[in-house]
Amino acid sequence: MKVRNFIDAFTRMLGKLKKNHKVKLEGQSVKLNLGCGLAIYGDWINVDGSLNALIASCPGFVHQFMYHQSGANRYYTQEEYCRLLGQHRFIHHDLSYGIPTFDNSADFVYSSHFLEHLFRNDAENLLSESLRILKPGGVVRICVPDLEYAVSQYSAGKKKAMLESYFFVDDDNSYYARHKYMYDFQMLQDLLRLVGFRDIRRCEFQQGLTPDLDHLDNRSEDSLYVEAIK
Ligand SMILES: C[S@@+](CC[C@H](N)C(=O)[O-])C[C@H]1O[C@@H](n2cnc3c(N)ncnc32)[C@H](O)[C@@H]1O
Repeated sequence: MKVRNFIDAFTRMLGKLKKNHKVKLEGQSVKLNLGCGLAIYGDWINVDGSLNALIASCPGFVHQFMYHQSGANRYYTQEEYCRLLGQHRFIHHDLSYGIPTFDNSADFVYSSHFLEHLFRNDAENLLSESLRILKPGGVVRICVPDLEYAVSQYSAGKKKAMLESYFFVDDDNSYYARHKYMYDFQMLQDLLRLVGFRDIRRCEFQQGLTPDLDHLDNRSEDSLYVEAIK
């Protein structure tokens, strides 16, 4: 078994063992970034099932040691990687089991290019969980690759690129990296409405009620941005 396959299986097993774990979140404005990867900023609390989130609270030498196994070496220098892990707050959690905190505890929930990594039922549950943990009036912002854009790429003849970018993401090292569903605006709106959100609206790239969007929104071309209120 390749080391990365072992790490993937190990992080998933830990996620399952900790599936009922909950963390008390306190502060003036509690902001959760779900399925954060390393696209993180400021005082957001970052939740992910990856190795990065698992080792973030370990001492710096662990970050250095795991850098090459993390997959982050494709995008970040070792120095950047260690700084990202050391200077931000992470919670390691498998979000297909829900969100690891208590009712009415967050002001903002942000999620970018993550919902499509969950099966349809788990995605519905995640949105339901977002409603549960948001305070009344709290805002959820979901960004996903737009199914309509993907279909337009297919129609324009970019069939292989479209399939490999959106449906059969080529990373056999990671279960979490695969896409398990896709959404257009109508489908995401219906799902948000179904679980109980109100005032659902499509937003422009880096525009909306959520703070720090100039740092968080990171894909302008193919993405669908939607916000809704509890
Ligand atoms: C494509 S990346 C997106 C990262 C970042 N949000 C961004 O916008 O670049 C998807 C992230 O979702 C995480 N992920 C996928 N399935 C997950 C699950 N069931 N529980 C927790 N995290 C998961 C992966 O580990 C990965 O970091």
